[in-house]
Amino acid sequence: LMAITSTLMFLPMNFSFRAGEMRDIEAMYALDQICFQRIFAFTKATFRYLAANCDNISIVAESRAGSLAGFAILEIHPPDSTCLTTIDIHPDFRRKGLGSHLLQHALKIASGRGLFKTHLQVYVGNEAAIAFYLGFGYCIEEYLPDFYARGVDACLMSFEVHFPAESIHEIRDYQ
Ligand SMILES: CC(C)(COP(=O)(O)OP(=O)(O)OC[C@H]1O[C@@H](n2cnc3c(N)ncnc32)[C@H](O)[C@@H]1OP(=O)(O)O)[C@@H](O)C(=O)NCCC(=O)NCCS
Repeated sequence: LMAITSTLMFLPMNFSFRAGEMRDIEAMYALDQICFQRIFAFTKATFRYLAANCDNISIVAESRAGSLAGFAILEIHPPDSTCLTTIDIHPDFRRKGLGSHLLQHALKIASGRGLFKTHLQVYVGNEAAIAFYLGFGYCIEEYLPDFYARGVDACLMSFEVHFPAESIHEIRDYQ
């Protein structure tokens, strides 16, 4: 409990959170280039496409210095589902609970809109991310052979969220 409390206390003081906007595209692209090898990284066109869709749930975390520390983007899959398109945390800010905080915040916004199911694809070799998602509550549904390229497989992971109603109401839906 001590560890959880100190993580939660650490976060709001050190980061500010807001909705992702068009003006974030360059910084998102740059951070994505740092976070992912070439075949997994998104193009600027993909970030433009994601930012242009106002239904998407996109949250950015800025450090005190104003740099982009991390972001998460959920795409809506009607009627009741979301897909975690990406979550990127700058290497300087990992293992501080920021990824968990961003993902939880985004999923609570989704829950507030009645979107309780969520899924994602992740490279089978991305052990850090798979550990992160399993710890968060996601389960591995199936393996998707050749998902990214020939011989580069993905895991399909999914999760149905059940946040207490009061914790959804207290969260700010930035959109
Ligand atoms: C995966 C990622 C989003 C995790 O972000 P983060 O802010 O470091 O995650 P958190 O600090 O909230 O970690 C929560 C828990 O997840 C697990 N976890 C996170 N990173 C891990 C790692 N490298 N190895 C093992 N477990 C890890 C741990 O259980 C951790 O709790 P602990 O630090 O108390 O042990 C981050 O490493 C990242 O951006 N990676 C590069 C981009 C990427 O792969 N994104 C996912 C693509 S699908």
